[in-house]
Amino acid sequence: MELIPLLEQAKTSRGALSHAGLVFLLSLERREDLEALFAAAYDVKCRFIGRNVSLRGLIEMGNICSKDCYYCGIRRSNCKVSRFQLTPDDVVAMAMEAYHARYGSIAIQSGEIESDAHTAMITEILRKISAATNGGLGITLSLGEQTEDVYRQWFEAGAHRYLLRIEEANEARYRALHPAEGHDYHRRSACLDTLRRIGYQVGSGVMCGLPGQTADDLANDIEFYLKKDLDMIGMGPWLPHPDTPLGRDFSDTEPFRRKQLITGLKMIAVTRLYLHNVNIAATTALQTLAPDGRERGILAGANVIMPNVTDTAYRSRYQLYTGKPDLDENSEKIRDNLTNSLAAIGENILWAQRGDSPRFFQRQNSVS
Ligand code: 5AD
Repeated sequence: MELIPLLEQAKTSRGALSHAGLVFLLSLERREDLEALFAAAYDVKCRFIGRNVSLRGLIEMGNICSKDCYYCGIRRSNCKVSRFQLTPDDVVAMAMEAYHARYGSIAIQSGEIESDAHTAMITEILRKISAATNGGLGITLSLGEQTEDVYRQWFEAGAHRYLLRIEEANEARYRALHPAEGHDYHRRSACLDTLRRIGYQVGSGVMCGLPGQTADDLANDIEFYLKKDLDMIGMGPWLPHPDTPLGRDFSDTEPFRRKQLITGLKMIAVTRLYLHNVNIAATTALQTLAPDGRERGILAGANVIMPNVTDTAYRSRYQLYTGKPDLDENSEKIRDNLTNSLAAIGENILWAQRGDSPRFFQRQNSVS
């Protein structure tokens, strides 16, 4: 296979690459090949999104979690974590701060909890934010698997995007990453369909650079995105956490971290080349691996950044992986740094705009 013709073919239309083509691109290693890959993906990003970046003010609402994922620092069995849960008033206050700082959208994230009290609390938060902003603030939820009724209640209360990572699209590999009890690949996958049916903009994604994961697996993950016709993609490299089964005996070296960063950037680029007009986040995991990780993510085809707006008092307790950046930077400082670093690569922040996924509206228009 030849790189340049393949990149040209990828640009012609959505889903134009074969499985072998995806694997080929995901296997690139030479510096000049990677540069060509990232440049082609950035071209596609600019065609559909422009030289623009959308922000989501990220609120980490709580780290109490019913799940026990083998890789995650806030898994239920990790008794070293001190658990917290923000009050609804705290969350609304942080949302209003993000609104006044002209973020345009927020994303509310927490450990996975299914209970009537939790559902009611989120509904109350959504109603308050919607009322206080007149529906002018985009709201993404990332609160795990729930029933259709719950998703519907939250949609009606003002949420309109939902992120639920499939973590790995291959069922056997998913099972290897999660205990059988309380984790069901089919339920998680079905949740994405339910969210779509209700009317959410739907996002998902995977972790990349996991032990034993191949370019073929990653190609399957990207094909899963197309099959589910996702509007938004949030993915990032796996970072070993010492208090988890997967990270416990892992020696985290500099060459390993470089490789994780490159794998994360390749996934962004190939996803952009395959899906064209979706929203793709340059996630915090990239920034953990390199100070300019998110900017490099943008230059490889991403168009969304999620700066943390959680009160710094809570941030250190929300460590899915160690080494998270900005643990004690206040949100104003984070905002200034980001504005400057994006201007330096010629990218413009879409202040006070929701930054919805173009793919979502394209599908709406073709259906109606
Ligand atoms: N490294 C990278 N990402 C992780 N996540 C959880 N643990 C880790 C880790 N050790 C990701 C998962 C989850 C999201 C909230 O964070 O993909 O869906």
